[in-house]
Amino acid sequence: MNVLVIGGGGREHALCWKISQSPLVERLYCVPGNAGTAMEAKVENVAIAVDDYDGLLQFARERNIELTIVGPEQPLVEGIGDRFRQQGRLILAPSAAAAQLEGSKIFAKELMNRSGVPTAEFVTFRDLASVQAHLRQASYPLVIKADGLAAGKGVAVCHEHPAAEAFVNKLIEQRLFGRSGERLLVEAMLTGREVSVIGLCCGDEFRLMLPARDHKSLREAGEGPNTGGMGAFTPVAELDSAFLDRVAQRVFYPVLHQLKAEGMPFHGVLYAGLMVQEGEPQVLEFNVRFGDPEAQPLLFHFDGDLLPHLLAVARGELSSEPFRWRSGCSLCVVLASDGYPGAYEKGLPLPQAAAESCGKDIKLFHAGTTMQGDRLVTSGGRVLGLTVHAHDIKQARDLAYKQLPALSFPGAQFRQDIGLP
Ligand code: AMP
Ligand code: GLY
Repeated sequence: MNVLVIGGGGREHALCWKISQSPLVERLYCVPGNAGTAMEAKVENVAIAVDDYDGLLQFARERNIELTIVGPEQPLVEGIGDRFRQQGRLILAPSAAAAQLEGSKIFAKELMNRSGVPTAEFVTFRDLASVQAHLRQASYPLVIKADGLAAGKGVAVCHEHPAAEAFVNKLIEQRLFGRSGERLLVEAMLTGREVSVIGLCCGDEFRLMLPARDHKSLREAGEGPNTGGMGAFTPVAELDSAFLDRVAQRVFYPVLHQLKAEGMPFHGVLYAGLMVQEGEPQVLEFNVRFGDPEAQPLLFHFDGDLLPHLLAVARGELSSEPFRWRSGCSLCVVLASDGYPGAYEKGLPLPQAAAESCGKDIKLFHAGTTMQGDRLVTSGGRVLGLTVHAHDIKQARDLAYKQLPALSFPGAQFRQDIGLP
């Protein structure tokens, strides 16, 4: 069959790499893809904008695409799933109604309250005066979140009143709050260890992947600004199958059941960002897609053909096969451009090794890369994700950090502590 993958980051390279290995796949198209996706067997990049839904549908018709897989949140929240299904096309994407779980943090929090899912206490605001009054008398620390999609810029943990006020002003400047009905929420700060659990879901049935841990801050030990993720690994040693059972019972089942009961059954990939204290999960956020960079180690660690699982969900059912995983663990270290997550230069040359790194236990997933003539150059904030598999986390770290210097480029930033406790 012919498959279309939408997106152009490291997650989409990992999806293309994994899916292209399926014997079911004849051709795989990636919109817009990156230099790494174009290097995979069977894969061709296609220059269509990811929000050109008419263009994507026309392409799907012309190329006889039997399954479309969507990586990033924007098209999901804007309803690409509904549009494709209205035209009778199989797509791995929830409805726009169910995608509000990621598109509106307030929708997600209210749904969690209605379904009894553990999450931080919160208050919502739609006007500046009332949020300012609240922040003056609130106890700190607290967390402020813009309601809608904000490309990672909509959340701040604030330890004192001036920082909270400054962040609200920044949201107003960025047009994320206060102008035309945008809302925000203020919630209690939770403590513990973060973990991401991703499930394939159909109505209130679901199958969970192994827990993965993302490292979100730019620098080691939680220092520096928040990023999309500087590295990730799976599984997480201290989280056993009893933990996953708790996540299933306390988080996935109630929220999926509630969505179904309210007429918005969820079909697709659901990501729960959790804070865990003494083994008890509380939900920080939901996403309606694979995480990036969590997808890189998860898909590298997945044993066997992923495509039948994704195809089944797009058809509205779960595959009867359980997920199978390689033994040991998989880990991804991200190399980012100088300046990321702020402004950065593009077009910097990448070493030859970036076009070659691949093997059973090492795979370089590209993110912000492109070909300029015959030169491989940077084109984004997160550039490469070196992903390795090994017997244990220590060996995975040793393997990754031994390979990394050969992949570096001018100004490259990466964390030294991916996979450390
Ligand atoms: P979100 O997009 O809601 O996941 O927030 C981004 C990041 O902010 C999370 O990965 C956490 O590191 C942090 N965060 C969000 N909500 C909270 C909270 N209630 N307590 C502590 N940290 C939080
Ligand atoms: N790694 C976090 C995310 O994909 O949202």
